Amino acid sequence: MLADLLNESKRTIVYTGAGMSTESGLPDFRSAKTGMWETEDPAKVASVTALNQQVEQFFQFYKQRVLAAKETGPHKGHDILAKWEKEGLINGIITQNVDGFHTMAGSKNVMELHGTLRKVHCETCGKEYGNERYEQDEFYCDCGGTLRPSVVLFGEMLPEEAFIQSIFESEKADLFIVLGSSLTVTPANQFPLIAKEQGAKLVIINMEPTEMDQFADLVINERKIGEILDEADQNVGK
Ligand code: APR
Repeated sequence: MLADLLNESKRTIVYTGAGMSTESGLPDFRSAKTGMWETEDPAKVASVTALNQQVEQFFQFYKQRVLAAKETGPHKGHDILAKWEKEGLINGIITQNVDGFHTMAGSKNVMELHGTLRKVHCETCGKEYGNERYEQDEFYCDCGGTLRPSVVLFGEMLPEEAFIQSIFESEKADLFIVLGSSLTVTPANQFPLIAKEQGAKLVIINMEPTEMDQFADLVINERKIGEILDEADQNVGK
C-alpha cells in the first residue's frame, strides 16, 4: 500500500519526528515509559528560562543527546529516504529532529523546523561554533556571551526559512508521509493538515495512534518505521 502510493505520487513530502531516530538509539520524547519527557521536565531543560537560569543543567541535557547522536548516526530508514530522494520518489523531508541524521544519510532537501544540534551559537553576537564545544564544556563565546545549541527552545519562533519552505512544500505535495511523530507540538504539527487541505493523500506511520489519524488516508501503528520503509523499498518503482 505505501509503495503503491509512492509509485502513484508526483510530489511526495516526508515529515519526521523523534520516532525516526529511536532505531538509532536516541529516545523520543513522548513514548510511554521510554520518552525523555517521562523523566525530564522540558520547561527545565528545553526552554529559554532554563538556558538563562540553569546553564549547566541545560547543557548537560543537550550534551548527552549530541554524544548519543555521534555514537550512532543514521539507520537504514534514513538511508532509504536519502535513496528515494535520489531516485526522485520523494521530493524532500520536513523534520522536527535536530540530530542531523537525514543530512548525514545524504538527503538534500531537508527542512529542519527545530534547528540542529550540529552547531551552537552565541546569544550575544550570534557567532557560530561546531558542537565539539559540548565535549570541551566550552559554553562561552570569545565575546564573553553564552553559547547555546542552535535548536528551537519551547516558546521560541521556528527558523523562518525552514518554516516558509515547509509551507511551500506541504502545499505542493500530493502525498504527505508522517514518520514517527506524536503530532502534538504546534506549529510543527500543522503541516500534515496543510497538505491534506490542499488535496494531498496523508499517511501517518507511528507506533502509537495520534490525534491526526482521523484525517489520514492510511495509518500504520504498532510497527517500526525501519521495517515499513524496508518493505516499501522492495516494491517501489515497480
Ligand atoms: N517506529 C514507529 N514509531 C515510533 C518509533 C519507531 N521505531 N519510535 C517511536 N515512535 C513513535 C512514538 O510512538 C511517538 O508517538 O514516535 C512518536 C514520537 O513522538 P514524540 O516523542 O512526541 O516526538 P515528536 O513528535 O518528534 O516531538 C515533537 O517535541 O519535545 C519537542 O522539540 C521536541 O521536536 C520535538 C517535538
